[in-house]
Amino acid sequence: MDKLTLGIETSCDETAAAVLRGGRQLLSNVISTQIPLHQKFGGVVPEIASRKHIVNIMPVIDEALTEAGVNLRDINQIAVTFGPGLAGALLVGLSAAKSLAYALKIPLIAVNHLEGHIFANFLSAPQLEPPFLSLVVSGGHTALINMTDYNRFELLGQSRDDAAGEAFDKIARVMGLPYPGGPEIDKLAKSGDPNAITFPHPKVTGYDFSFSGLKSAVLNYLNTAQMKGDSIDAADVAASFQKTVVDTLAEKTLAAAEEFNLHKIVLAGGVAANSSLEKTLRTACERRGLEFYYPSKILCTDNAAMIACRGYYQNTFADATLNAVPNLGL
Ligand code: KG4
Ligand code: ZN
Repeated sequence: MDKLTLGIETSCDETAAAVLRGGRQLLSNVISTQIPLHQKFGGVVPEIASRKHIVNIMPVIDEALTEAGVNLRDINQIAVTFGPGLAGALLVGLSAAKSLAYALKIPLIAVNHLEGHIFANFLSAPQLEPPFLSLVVSGGHTALINMTDYNRFELLGQSRDDAAGEAFDKIARVMGLPYPGGPEIDKLAKSGDPNAITFPHPKVTGYDFSFSGLKSAVLNYLNTAQMKGDSIDAADVAASFQKTVVDTLAEKTLAAAEEFNLHKIVLAGGVAANSSLEKTLRTACERRGLEFYYPSKILCTDNAAMIACRGYYQNTFADATLNAVPNLGL
């Protein structure tokens, strides 16, 4: 009988729990989002996030069990995010996971949230196996990873400053769009001309990324227009900015796939939900004869299904001394 894993995720502004049978059969995936709560502040307020996680965590776990049609006693192991993320938010999920694992006398698995994002792909594409090249693009991270095995990740490059999602969110905020800005820019860009404005392409050698220069260039463009009283076409700004980010991400990913002779490209993280990034990479992969994978929309952004999946394939366990590691790397 395949193991049942309960996944728990509270690293940022989603309280999430999921039940997974074996490594790939998702029985439930419950996500309680706090986005409307943080929207009026223009971003996540850590203290509010922690308090809301406390209120939500047990009802969300209950709902995940009910939806899966199982009892707590049926669960064989618990996988929980221990970093990176907001310290107070992480601690809520960790405390719930540790208490349940202790009470039920079952193993506890400490999961790295970034690895979790990559594993979301195993749920969307059950036939997928490593090795592959993964581009992880989220609100806090941008990284290119050569995943040689379920437990071996070689970091090829990462952002030296802003993450891709962070740049989306900051530009959107200045343009007066609601939080989170990524999906708003994505929507607005659909009616804009991606070649209307030439923003500078980030110039970083190797497989590292940098988006702060691009972010400043877009902010300068918006400020200059405002000072001169010129009207701007918001859709053109969104489309031109998005194209610059997407082209940079795609270029580096394809170059890494070629250098490391990898034939599968796996997109992961919240920004993987970006329609232009998905389309650009898919088209480029088709042209080069590479396989392209990206998670279904609900598995792109934060969820506990990906945490349960990562936990299932992990061969290390944690104990009651497990603590949150807010700035955990890969
Ligand atoms: O992975 P995620 O849910 O949380 C982190 O681990 O950070 O990613 C959230 C990020 C936010 O910056 C959000 O604006 C961005 O993903 N995002 C998008 C889209 N959907 C979410 N960015 C661009 N286009 C989208 N459609
Ligand atoms: Zn995330």
